Amino acid sequence: MAKVRTSRPASKQQASASTAYLSGSLGLALLGTKFMGRAHSIAWANAPKFFDLPLQVDRNWAAGRDAAETHEFARIWGWKASTIDWQETLTNPTVELVDVATPNHVHKEMAIAALEAGRHVACEKPLAGTLADAREMRNAARKAAKRGVKTFVWFNYRRAPAVALAHRLVKQGCIGRIFHIRAAYLQDWGGPTTPLVWRFQSSQAGSGAHGDLNAHIIDMARFISGEEISQVVGAIEETFIKERLLVVDSEAALSGHEDSAGRRTRKQSKKMGKSTVDDCVLFLARMSGGATASFEATRLATGNKNQNCIEINGEKGSIRFSFERMNELEFWDDTRADAVKGWTKILCTESVHPYIKHYWPAGHLVGYEHGFVSQAADIVRVLGGQTAEIPLPDFEDAWKTQCVLEAVIRSARRRRPIAVSEVD
Ligand SMILES: NC(=O)c1ccc[n+]([C@@H]2O[C@H](COP(=O)([O-])OP(=O)(O)OC[C@H]3O[C@@H](n4cnc5c(N)ncnc54)[C@H](O)[C@@H]3O)[C@@H](O)[C@H]2O)c1
Repeated sequence: MAKVRTSRPASKQQASASTAYLSGSLGLALLGTKFMGRAHSIAWANAPKFFDLPLQVDRNWAAGRDAAETHEFARIWGWKASTIDWQETLTNPTVELVDVATPNHVHKEMAIAALEAGRHVACEKPLAGTLADAREMRNAARKAAKRGVKTFVWFNYRRAPAVALAHRLVKQGCIGRIFHIRAAYLQDWGGPTTPLVWRFQSSQAGSGAHGDLNAHIIDMARFISGEEISQVVGAIEETFIKERLLVVDSEAALSGHEDSAGRRTRKQSKKMGKSTVDDCVLFLARMSGGATASFEATRLATGNKNQNCIEINGEKGSIRFSFERMNELEFWDDTRADAVKGWTKILCTESVHPYIKHYWPAGHLVGYEHGFVSQAADIVRVLGGQTAEIPLPDFEDAWKTQCVLEAVIRSARRRRPIAVSEVD
């Protein structure tokens, strides 16, 4: 087994994380080193290269569970040191922000410990696997906010330039009063041969496609429309694949994805275990501005890889977006003369489009990782006293999405409408 690197990031005379704004540099600790660990590593590494930021970003610590793997991860992805004791990073003077990229059931413990240590926290979505955990996290964030400590949640799709443009167009009144929101997040990797990774265990994930995918489209609908989901009118929750193959390798069992070097390492047994989460959840809702809305999340939509899509219809126009064509936003302007009305496909790569001026010339497309890079840049801007280009979700904001997730499950199980205010 490779030795854990013993060199430690140099300690520095730092402003406490709880002062109003940081100056100089932002020291990071990343907790979790697989799929999102890689996405966040790229984000923190590239944000200072593409954006002119008020703080230097120091990638000081990567924390995982296996010493050799975490060491290798840190080497590949440019972290100065690695550890298998995430708690030691929280009180380390080289850390001002803790980035939580671990499965949902550990978000609460890690985020609250970091907030109590006075560290800013950027946590993956959903805020937590359960409402109770999320409530504790929100309360801890409220308390920490009084000391100037900030929270962020990685709802990265907000920062796809086309989604950010949709948000701006709706805010500018381009589609007028909203009548309908139609959102679906369709993937197809959760078929019967996919083993029982943590994403299929409610004790770790909380829910299945619901917390994983509906969380994103609930956030996206709220973000683009500027409205809240006020009532869940009805919902369906279904688990089609009741049993899945157990995974032998305990670390690989946590992941549905490749290891830090991109290799598939899952070892499966012949034994089966029970899946305790949904494979799909669909629901109907009412928005605070009066619109009707429908949502669908599934991992069994054969042929759809990452089809995160939304259409919004208003009295003056419509917008639609699908992540599999993430550089494009479709816009229908109903105020145009009938003779020239039609869907306009906007290639969102002009320098006037959100974030684009920081990346490439027009027509040179951006990809999945750019959403994370842009979010990391906005986090650094905010911590350095500047303004985010597009509003950043914090724990308070993600709590609202979590309440909708809960209202949906109650509606499905009780077979009746649930007002989201009943959940709070
Ligand atoms: N924003 C997005 O689009 C997006 C995409 C995928 C996943 N996610 C979220 O990111 C989080 C992580 O998902 P992932 O896909 O990276 O998972 P993963 O299984 O690929 O990686 C999980 C990491 O957490 C570590 N870990 C697991 N349990 C731990 C524990 N008890 N203590 C310390 N470390 C632990 C593992 O060692 C691993 O490094 C989840 O909350 C998930 O919902 C978000």
